Amino acid sequence: MSRKIKWGVLGGGGDSLIGVLHRVAASMYDAYALTGAVFNPDFEQNKAFAEEIGIPLDRIYPDFDTMVAAELALPQEERIQVFSVLTPNFLHFPMAKKLMENGFHVICEKPMTMTHEEALVLEKTQKDKGVLFALTHTYTGYPMIRQMKAMIKDGAIGAIQKVDAQYYQGWINPIIHDPKQRASTWRLDPAKSGISCCMGDIGVHAYQMLEYVTGQKIESILADLGHVYDDNQMDIDGTVLLRLGKHVKGVLRASQIATAEENNFSLAIYGREGALKWEQENPNYLTLLKDGQPAQILKPGHSYNSAFSLEGTKLPPGHPEGIFDAMGNIYRGMAKAVRGESFTEGEFPSMEDGVRGMKFIETAVASHADGNVWKTL
Ligand SMILES: NC(=O)c1ccc[n+]([C@@H]2O[C@H](COP(=O)([O-])OP(=O)(O)OC[C@H]3O[C@@H](n4cnc5c(N)ncnc54)[C@H](O)[C@@H]3O)[C@@H](O)[C@H]2O)c1
Repeated sequence: MSRKIKWGVLGGGGDSLIGVLHRVAASMYDAYALTGAVFNPDFEQNKAFAEEIGIPLDRIYPDFDTMVAAELALPQEERIQVFSVLTPNFLHFPMAKKLMENGFHVICEKPMTMTHEEALVLEKTQKDKGVLFALTHTYTGYPMIRQMKAMIKDGAIGAIQKVDAQYYQGWINPIIHDPKQRASTWRLDPAKSGISCCMGDIGVHAYQMLEYVTGQKIESILADLGHVYDDNQMDIDGTVLLRLGKHVKGVLRASQIATAEENNFSLAIYGREGALKWEQENPNYLTLLKDGQPAQILKPGHSYNSAFSLEGTKLPPGHPEGIFDAMGNIYRGMAKAVRGESFTEGEFPSMEDGVRGMKFIETAVASHADGNVWKTL
């Protein structure tokens, strides 16, 4: 009998951005079998997409509630075990909550919920039900990010004294200057996206990543957020000052109107003994800087990398791996957890990342609204 985990998908249809990334990632280590789905709120479109990608229609459901009821009616051994929630933001909370309440494991897209309060409810639900939860902060799956985390933990750059994250995109630039498009894009609609666009969509990735690679908590922030037109005041740009401790400060810069930028996410962590720098658009290169020495470039798959990094590399050095592989590593970590196998802390971002991420988004918006003041996280 197949060892594959029975996997269900919510959202992520043929019309979506992120669906294909999850389907490829889930198939990467042959751990999941796509068993059922509501890819789309329109049943005809939902079935048409399932047919197109070759999924039997018997477990393609008209809507989420029907899907949960039908799956619960099946014997345990036939039932879907893990659901991925890949819908627009406002559906993450009701879907993840109901799934966990009914004993299903959940993989959820970020931002985890619409509010910090909802995040706390999800946290309690997970605890009460004893189910697994993974949050897909995709970039944590890159081998050189895992290497960065391992090197910082092992003291390769010494005590951290400065952190810097930049996440610049330009895709909202043409949208924001067109009144029709800025009124119809779900990420600019607070009812579907939440109270923040830029910080909620990409600032939260940068925030989570800073805490992920440093292993330290950001203690307080001061945000200066920006919008362009008063008929849509969702932030589409922002700078956030960070304090991680008495003498450790940093900055997080995020923008969706950095004209013509693609997915320019970069991290730099400076310690007393050196620095580590990484760029998402060139994810296979990690730069190590040391005072008075030439810069060193570390690449995936070499034995000088940590076991954690090497485990996330499938091919010998020189075969570029990318974002599909990064997400594949997160799905692999979750598969180990579902099967009760041992896994490394950090193999998949957790509920705690989601709760802290929602606190960050709300606090950044409040810091800006209150006149750009320091707020504790
Ligand atoms: N981890 C990452 O790096 C990353 C990147 C992009 C998007 N995301 C997140 O993924 C989520 C989806 O983003 P996207 O860009 O794919 O959005 P999208 O608008 O491109 O796609 C959303 C999909 O959800 C479906 N959908 C909407 N309502 C539904 C319902 N009631 N039931 C079932 N399906 C429904 C739509 O038909 C569509 O297929 C967002 O929360 C976003 O923040 C994460």
